[in-house]
Amino acid sequence: MLILGIESSCDETGVALVRLPAEPGRVPELLSHALFSQIEMHQAYGGVVPELASRDHIRRVLPLTDEVMQASGRRLQEVDVVAYTRGPGLAGALLVGAGVACALAASLGKSVLGIHHLEGHLLSPFLSQDPPTFPFIALLVSGGHTQLMLVEGVGRYTLLGETIDDAAGEAFDKSAKLMGLGYPGGPALSRLAQAGDPQAFKLPRPLLHSGDLDFSFAGLKTAVLTQARKLGEDLPARKADLAASTQAAIVEVLVKKSMHALRTTGMRRLVVAGGVGANQTLREQLNAACKRLDIRVHYPELHLCTDNGAMIAMAAAMRLQAGVSAASARYAFDVKPRWPLADLQA
Ligand code: KG4
Ligand code: ZN
Repeated sequence: MLILGIESSCDETGVALVRLPAEPGRVPELLSHALFSQIEMHQAYGGVVPELASRDHIRRVLPLTDEVMQASGRRLQEVDVVAYTRGPGLAGALLVGAGVACALAASLGKSVLGIHHLEGHLLSPFLSQDPPTFPFIALLVSGGHTQLMLVEGVGRYTLLGETIDDAAGEAFDKSAKLMGLGYPGGPALSRLAQAGDPQAFKLPRPLLHSGDLDFSFAGLKTAVLTQARKLGEDLPARKADLAASTQAAIVEVLVKKSMHALRTTGMRRLVVAGGVGANQTLREQLNAACKRLDIRVHYPELHLCTDNGAMIAMAAAMRLQAGVSAASARYAFDVKPRWPLADLQA
């Protein structure tokens, strides 16, 4: 079975083709994928402009689909299911992917399946060379979400804790913006941090000792702003130190809470997903902490940490394989810009 996946929830247009093997239990295989990032277009505005994002998805999605089909050596007529991101995300941007997916499937006489964007991230490590097995604890760290979840199977997700304000990616992005590092701030801040001292500034580790698995990052951004103001003219010379200290604060909280989740549930496996999962310091410190506790840790491949079509096609393939979803030939669609993962039933 061939599944085409379309992702258009934010500022990346992603398309991918995944093959679901007939033999039960086999991990679906990524045949090809293509991605267009709109980052450059939004950079001038310091963040994503939703209307511009939607219009650009319209321009990119069909050429990317052609590219994916050509690279795979398959024909569009061979596709069995067209999967698309149904939510959460920017409403207009989601409508482009959903509309194109349903139109494509209708014209080919094939079925469609709407996918939860976070489930895509969550299952993206199954596309790596070292795929996990269920059950596991998932640390989902993206631009909009920071969650710890108990994952017992496809569609069997229990939320253990989440951020009560900003997401980890947002903490990177907002701190980077305060330091004049542009958008998106995560990669820029972590690059600069390599040249800095992570202990140079004492920044808060919100909720570190709260005893639960919730996060809070809004106070950190304020502390970074206060520190930047205090530095005044010295800021340019100390920027790398401030970046390293900010990253250290975010990473320490993510690592400690993940270990707490593993300890309280007795799980022996951790899966990291979402854009912030590309952060090298986070990976190094999680690896070290997991090694101490003899925990296996899995990551998506670096280029599949941030938004892409492969994770959407993969989530669809795994849902179909597990029998928790059926693709449908009803082409009337809606999108869900706000959609808690906990509402997704197996
Ligand atoms: O998963 P994603 O592509 O989009 C959402 O679903 O939100 O995550 C984007 C987020 C942004 O906040 C970006 O700054 C952050 O991931 N990010 C990073 C790194 N690469 C991306 N944060 C820290 N270090 C990185 N290397
Ligand atoms: Zn995402």
